Amino acid sequence: MRVLRFFADLLVHGPSYAILNWLIHSPTRLDEEWTWNFITMKEHPLRKWAREAWPPAFVRKWVLRSKQYQDPSLGIQEHYDVSNEFYKLFLDPKFMFYSCADHLRGDETLIEAQTNKADHLLGLIDPKPGEKIAELGCGWASMLRYVEQHTGDRDNLEGFTLSREQAAYIKENYGYRVRLENFVEAEYPKNYYDKMYSIAAWEAIRPQENPIILKKVYDALKPGGRFVMHFFCRLQERLPPAAAVAQLFFPGHVPTSFPTHMKDFEAAGFRVTHTSCHDYRLTLRQWFDAMVAKREEALKIVSLETYNRYVCFFPASYKYFDDRTGVLFRFVLRKPPIAEAEVFPGVPGAKA
Ligand SMILES: C[S@@+](CC[C@H](N)C(=O)[O-])C[C@H]1O[C@@H](n2cnc3c(N)ncnc32)[C@H](O)[C@@H]1O
Repeated sequence: MRVLRFFADLLVHGPSYAILNWLIHSPTRLDEEWTWNFITMKEHPLRKWAREAWPPAFVRKWVLRSKQYQDPSLGIQEHYDVSNEFYKLFLDPKFMFYSCADHLRGDETLIEAQTNKADHLLGLIDPKPGEKIAELGCGWASMLRYVEQHTGDRDNLEGFTLSREQAAYIKENYGYRVRLENFVEAEYPKNYYDKMYSIAAWEAIRPQENPIILKKVYDALKPGGRFVMHFFCRLQERLPPAAAVAQLFFPGHVPTSFPTHMKDFEAAGFRVTHTSCHDYRLTLRQWFDAMVAKREEALKIVSLETYNRYVCFFPASYKYFDDRTGVLFRFVLRKPPIAEAEVFPGVPGAKA
């Protein structure tokens, strides 16, 4: 069965997908360090060529196009509803962020690096008491809590998630208003929010949905409002083999490229006032190490297949960033009008 699946995967999705799926379905626990090294190793150009040559671009495109008809929210739910207890084993205990941290020196602990990220995002969101603020894709309410710590205002905060486990956890532990709803399909009041933000959820937005949800966010913001985004995307329009590999972890996922995002931001009416790039690799390695250190507990919570899936997921994601196939970005999008001094702070002559 495993052998048959390997050859079928090889034919339809190519070698990267077939090998990873073979490893995930191993009847025994994978040797974690061997798996990490095997997946992330620096490749001989010939191995890279062999990995990427099949299937040809048009087949890859066709296979991924067929995924557009799958409901991607099912894949997202499946990923996050694995178990809160499982995620607690490897996410930082302070916030439970499931998104890229900022290692500014390189030797930070996960908690320090996640605090760096939270501080950077807080500066970009710039929340004030009394402002209406929504997070699209709120996870375990990590950033909502940080925002509340800084404004002292919890009543005006709101989060969206597709995960039942997360929504129940937030309700039980923090009591924020959480909408268990697909934020792409949700209805929003017009000119209502002062700030909106999204951390590590825009990766799931498919190209055909991007203009729709961006327009909804634009309309939902008050004039002068801001939308802060943190997500990764591939740099080129061409679909990489990684797009097929992503199906193993997020079935139905069809990625949007950087050029498409930039065009869609502008078409929705936004002005981009901040862009920065961040390195995901150290976070992925720290999550991997934390999970492996607690493997006995992990295997009591999740099945062997799920454990092996994560043993492959972290290095496969690392490889995606190490090869510069994709980059993690933060953007601030502003709905006009915007004062010049806000766009170019500290630039002599910029008028408020
Ligand atoms: C990688 S987690 C990030 C969570 C959190 N922002 C953080 O930084 O830890 C992605 C979150 O986005 C949510 N999500 C993704 N797509 C969504 C959608 N279309 N509608 C609602 N929630 C979505 C998931 O349910 C999950 O809570």
